[in-house]
Amino acid sequence: MASIAIIGQGYMANAHAAAWANAGQSGAIKYICTPRPKEGAVAAATKAKYVSDLEIVLNDPDVKYVSVTTPTLTHKEISLALLAAGKHVLLEKPIAFTVSDALEIEAAAKKSSGSLMLAHVVRFFLGYQKLHEASVRGDLGKVLSVQARRFSPKPTWAAWLGDESQSGGMLLDFSIHDFDQINLYLGKPIEVFTLQTSPTGPAEITIKYEGGGVGQVQSFMNAAPGVPFTSTIDLLGTDGIAHYEFSAISATEESSSGNSAGVNSWHVFSAGGNTVEQIPSDDPYGRQVAYFFEQAQRGGKYDLISTHDAISALKVSLAAKQSLKEGRPVSIA
Ligand SMILES: NC(=O)c1ccc[n+]([C@@H]2O[C@H](COP(=O)([O-])OP(=O)(O)OC[C@H]3O[C@@H](n4cnc5c(N)ncnc54)[C@H](O)[C@@H]3O)[C@@H](O)[C@H]2O)c1
Repeated sequence: MASIAIIGQGYMANAHAAAWANAGQSGAIKYICTPRPKEGAVAAATKAKYVSDLEIVLNDPDVKYVSVTTPTLTHKEISLALLAAGKHVLLEKPIAFTVSDALEIEAAAKKSSGSLMLAHVVRFFLGYQKLHEASVRGDLGKVLSVQARRFSPKPTWAAWLGDESQSGGMLLDFSIHDFDQINLYLGKPIEVFTLQTSPTGPAEITIKYEGGGVGQVQSFMNAAPGVPFTSTIDLLGTDGIAHYEFSAISATEESSSGNSAGVNSWHVFSAGGNTVEQIPSDDPYGRQVAYFFEQAQRGGKYDLISTHDAISALKVSLAAKQSLKEGRPVSIA
C-alpha cells in the first residue's frame, strides 16, 4: 500500500488525518511534516514520523498521497514542490492568495505525473449534494437565485487566521465556501458588491452571473457564545425551491460527523413533488478523502471539484474584497 503524508499539524491536519483513518488508511500516514514538529499533535496519525524537512516527503517514493493543510500563503510553494515530485495532492482551500499563484498551481498540476484536488469540503456534505442532485435532475427548473449563509464562533486556534495579511480575511478564508456553492448553480460570476461592517462581519455579498442569476452570501465569524457553527443554502428555481441547513452540536466544534444532536436537514418543494429529509449522520471530510483516494488511483480527474471551480471561487473572494475596499461593484474578467 502506498503511503500518505500530511503537511501541517494543526486544525485541518487533524481533520484530514481523522478522515484518512475513517477511510481505513490511518496506518498508511507515514509523515506529518511541519516546521516545528510536535510528536502526537495529529491524534489519528498513530504510525506517522514527525519531520520538518519537506524534502523527506518529496524524495520518498512510497508517498503517493499528500494532504496539504498549511496556512494559505504557503499553498503555492508546497503544492508546486509536491506536484513536481509527482505526488497526488489534496490541497486545502483557498487554492492560493492570488489568481496568478492559483494559475501557476493549475499549470503545475497539468504537467505533473501526480494530480491536484482542492479540498472544498462543502461539496462533500450530503445535504449540499442532495440539493445539487435535485437541481441536476431538473426538479427546480432553471435556478434563478441562490442564497448561502455561514456563521461561526471566532476561530481561536491559530493567530494567523485573525491576520488578514496572512489569511486573506473572512471573504477569502470563510465566505469562499459559499461563493463556490453559488458558482456551482449559477455558472460564471461577472460582478460582485460587498457590504461589511467589521472584519468578522456580518458581510453581505451580492454576485451577478452571466445569464441573469443572482447570488447572495451572508457571512459572520463572531457568533455569540453558545451559537453553533451554522451554514445554510436556499435555491429558487422556475419550478421549485430548496433549502439545506447544517448546525453543529457544539459552538466550538465544526465537526459534522455523528451530529445527531444538531440540525442537518434539507427539503425540496417543486412541481414534481415535495421531499423533506433529515440526515442522521455525515462524514464529509471522510467522503472527501475517500473520493480523492479513489480518483487519484483512476488517473486524477476530480469532477466533483475541479481546479477551475476553485479558481472561480477565488476570483469571487478577491472581487468581494476589492468591492469592500473601493465601495463599489467590481467586475470579474
Ligand atoms: N475546509 C475547511 O473547512 C477549513 C477549515 C479551516 C481551515 N481551512 C484551511 O486549511 C488551511 C490550514 O488551516 P488550519 O486551520 O489547519 O491552520 P492551523 O494553524 O491550525 O494549522 C496550520 C499548520 O501548518 C503548519 N505550517 C505552517 N507553515 C508551514 C510550512 N511552510 N510547511 C509545513 N507546515 C507549515 C503550522 O505549523 C500548523 O501546524 C488553511 O488554508 C485554511 O484556510 C479549511
